[in-house]
Amino acid sequence: MRHFLTLKDFTKEEILEILEIAFKIKKKLKNGKRKAYLENQTLGMIFEKSSTRTRVSFEVGMYQLGGMALFLSSNDIQLGRGEPMKDTARVLSRMLDMVMIRTFSQKELEEFAKFSLIPVINGLTDTYHPVQLLADYMTIIEHKKEKDLVVAYVGDGNNIANSWLMLSAKLGFELRVASPRGYECNPLVIDSALRLAKDSGAKIRFFHDPKEAVKNASVVTTDTWISMGQEDEKSKRVKDFKGFIVNDDIMELAKKDAIFLHCLPAYRGYEVSEEVLESKQSVIFDEAENRLHAQKGIMVFLDKKR
Ligand code: CP
Ligand code: NVA
Repeated sequence: MRHFLTLKDFTKEEILEILEIAFKIKKKLKNGKRKAYLENQTLGMIFEKSSTRTRVSFEVGMYQLGGMALFLSSNDIQLGRGEPMKDTARVLSRMLDMVMIRTFSQKELEEFAKFSLIPVINGLTDTYHPVQLLADYMTIIEHKKEKDLVVAYVGDGNNIANSWLMLSAKLGFELRVASPRGYECNPLVIDSALRLAKDSGAKIRFFHDPKEAVKNASVVTTDTWISMGQEDEKSKRVKDFKGFIVNDDIMELAKKDAIFLHCLPAYRGYEVSEEVLESKQSVIFDEAENRLHAQKGIMVFLDKKR
């Protein structure tokens, strides 16, 4: 049995296999066909943080695959009152077929997975958001045909940035990450990405100047400066991230036909300007839709592996 906790646990071939399943199911859906790959299965969705896309895409995805999903907010289940992850994992394993968790610490997610008898999917932690990255990569495949892909991530060295590091390290494309001093990616994630990059041939580079990072990039992406759980740091972060907004001046330095990605929700006037978000280069709603398809790929893949 496999879990989907971080891209680090997957080979390039496995990541491509998941995407292949996702594209196949997406194509079928667009032709009006649905196959019940997960007929009568149940997915538990534990949320310790807010969500629009993750919740709706997993719930609808499971339904379209012939199963059903249960929304389990930590405000309403005993986990929120202190029941341990390891007990919750063993109880839910007796009732569900699969579980998705959005929580704070990657360690807590791993603890759940350690005790779980059913596949566990990371729906975002403070460290990683791997399901998002598969949707992002699907969107890149759909919009960019060039061989030498260069992705520039501008902003906080957060869960999204860490996940870009892992995706690039596994798949072997060039990644440039520009963050303000003090907001670089997790050093442990950087170390392991750079080690993996030696095998995949990925060129990964870090910058403190966003202009340097985006030069001739084929994909420009960013994320909020204030992730869930960091609300108290808002005023300091807004000051520290000055100059890191992705606006027309930044996009002009990238390739002419570069695309703009954002996992959403986006904060206009902070990490990205209204003009860029609403521009022709922005493919953020294709990206959001691909959450539905990518996650179906993940669920069907995990089901095949048990
Ligand atoms: N991108 C993303 O995960 O969005 P939600 O927080 O709305 O799920
Ligand atoms: N970095 C953001 C992503 C939201 C989808 C957060 O963790 O809040």
